[in-house]
Amino acid sequence: MRIDVDALIKEASRVLGNSYAPYSNIHVAAAVLTSSGRVYLGVNVENASYGLTICAERSAISAMVAAGERDPVAVAIVTDLEDPIPPCGACRQVIAEFNPRALIVMHSTRSGRTVVRNLEELFPQPFTISDEAGRRDPS
Ligand code: THU
Repeated sequence: MRIDVDALIKEASRVLGNSYAPYSNIHVAAAVLTSSGRVYLGVNVENASYGLTICAERSAISAMVAAGERDPVAVAIVTDLEDPIPPCGACRQVIAEFNPRALIVMHSTRSGRTVVRNLEELFPQPFTISDEAGRRDPS
């Protein structure tokens, strides 16, 4: 499937202003493109209890699953920081649950810079459901 990287960046950029980040002041938005061609959006949502913060990527993946889809082909991550940011470790694991080879598009609205990687490069050995099954007591 052809992936329009610029269009996906544009979709994420559209909701960047909705990011709720009063503590870090780091605003992040994500757009998940699925194999059906639909796009699901998310932003980071911080909390006074800092550890409860959810990243933009996981917000967008949750929106995808809630809509009944499970096949992300690309995830755009947009920030207004000077440099594009890569997904955190937790988000890599969560994206890998659905597609360990998803295209990861990182973009800064400030500098206009874009970096594109495959999730396989960023996260070569995800924990998978088959690893978990192997550890289960067979009885
Ligand atoms: N953040 C994301 O939304 N995605 C990432 O991949 C990295 C970090 C957010 C979480 C927090 O609100 C802020 O950026 C600073 O860590």
